[in-house]
Amino acid sequence: MKKQSRKVVIAGNWKMNKTRPEAAELAKQLADVAKAPNVEVVVCVPFTNLETVVNEFSLAAVKVGAQNVHFAKSGAFTGEISTDMLCELGVQYVIIGHSERRQYFGETDATVNSRTKAALDAGLTPLMCIGELLEEREAGITEEVLARQTKLAFAGFTAEEVCKTVIAYEPVWAIGTGKTATAAQAGEACGFIRGVVAKLYGADVADAVTIQYGGSMNAQNAAELLAQEDVDGGLIGGASLVAEDFKAIIKAAVDGN
Ligand code: PGA
Repeated sequence: MKKQSRKVVIAGNWKMNKTRPEAAELAKQLADVAKAPNVEVVVCVPFTNLETVVNEFSLAAVKVGAQNVHFAKSGAFTGEISTDMLCELGVQYVIIGHSERRQYFGETDATVNSRTKAALDAGLTPLMCIGELLEEREAGITEEVLARQTKLAFAGFTAEEVCKTVIAYEPVWAIGTGKTATAAQAGEACGFIRGVVAKLYGADVADAVTIQYGGSMNAQNAAELLAQEDVDGGLIGGASLVAEDFKAIIKAAVDGN
């Protein structure tokens, strides 16, 4: 059983929600989350809320993440944010390659690779997202898609860099739809991704890397999903906007660990 030795990461993805006062209010409600050994709690908030939320959590056990970062250090990239800009605010995590970025903003496996590398170089922990579309699952090519996305995301990475990356498996058909992958489907896909990492980097790296499940995870289904041998946490959208629901998911992770 390698599961117990891996870090569990429960990360909220607020997406494009919350003005600054609303963000401060939600952060206040989460600030009493207790520190638990081996379970890291993160909230990934809009850029405009980063400073507010970092301040609210200055004494709390909750870490702060952004939802994207550019790969260049600085320059003519209108609308983008650099790793230095995130680090100076006290940000520690960043979501990369979320399916909404891939679907609506032209993110590709190649840009996911560059952004993940830049995040690691800056000391940020990337939550690197992969996952199949409904058509791909129905066509029976889920594994092919996950293998391709994993290989390309990690192209040119050292074993140490892979260990520092958190992989988020998010089947696109389960995001924001209320359709959760069954615990067995989530466990199987995360196990498959771990197998791909093992082939590329060896069993020790695969055993060490944290793989989250994301897609309609909520207070009711979290315990069963998180109990899967290869599921080491969750990336949570809708349910992370409601303090009690997010706390219930954190509790499920702590209790099950
Ligand atoms: P959801 O979103 O929990 O609302 O399905 C998950 C995500 O997009 O990260």
